Amino acid sequence: MIITFGTQKGGVGKTTLAIAFANYISLHTDYKISVLDFDFQKSFFQKWKDDEMLKGDYLYDVVLVDEANEALTNDDDLLKQLKDSEEIFLFDIAGNIQKKYSKVLKHSNFIVVPFSYSDVTINSTLVFVNLCKILEIEGKMLFVRNNVDKNGKYLNQIEMDLELQQHGKLLDNSVFKRNCLQTITTKKLTSEQKLAVKSFFDELIFNIREYGSD
Ligand SMILES: Nc1ncnc2c1ncn2[C@@H]1O[C@H](COP(=O)(O)OP(=O)(O)OP(=O)(O)O)[C@@H](O)[C@H]1O
Ligand SMILES: [Mg+2]
Repeated sequence: MIITFGTQKGGVGKTTLAIAFANYISLHTDYKISVLDFDFQKSFFQKWKDDEMLKGDYLYDVVLVDEANEALTNDDDLLKQLKDSEEIFLFDIAGNIQKKYSKVLKHSNFIVVPFSYSDVTINSTLVFVNLCKILEIEGKMLFVRNNVDKNGKYLNQIEMDLELQQHGKLLDNSVFKRNCLQTITTKKLTSEQKLAVKSFFDELIFNIREYGSD
């Protein structure tokens, strides 16, 4: 299956949550996972490369999608194969959505959309939602509140939640702002990091199993 972490906004935690998710899947589920870094900034791929010197084996492979192999992401037959596979193919994409992402978004079984309640993020999230509508995406959008401040009050939360619920599933569990997530590596998930994401990922995986069998 294809799971894409994406939205039309930079810095909302796509890569951080994608790394944590890939680690969590590898360490705590039976799924096999491979990562495709489709962001020109190469954040996931670079981190994975840098982590080579850390002790321990790699948990999964990360492939960089660039000019050399980008054609693969425009190949409907190949994407359909990835989509129907038991294995998870995780795409991490950039915060500025480009035409080259169209087919990956269209064929994704799930698009995980991290967001927060600031005005600018809300607007960008809705732009992304509309874009996905235009692309006639086949999969389900899963919205997750990330970087949530425990004491934060969000005046526009009710309105925003109602809006997002019309376009996909808004997960009940949020990911709070945690310093430990800022130092995540691709080789392990510390107990503190695991605690920061566990409830969200368990809900996410529950949804993947639930809707994945549709
Ligand atoms: N839950 C969190 N708690 C604390 N820090 C976080 C959390 N989520 C993300 N961050 C931090 O926010 C910053 C941006 O995160 P990240 O790079 O994952 O965002 P992104 O959406 O992938 O950005 P880009 O669009 O540039 O690819 C990073 O410094 C990351 O460590
Ligand atoms: Mg990123």
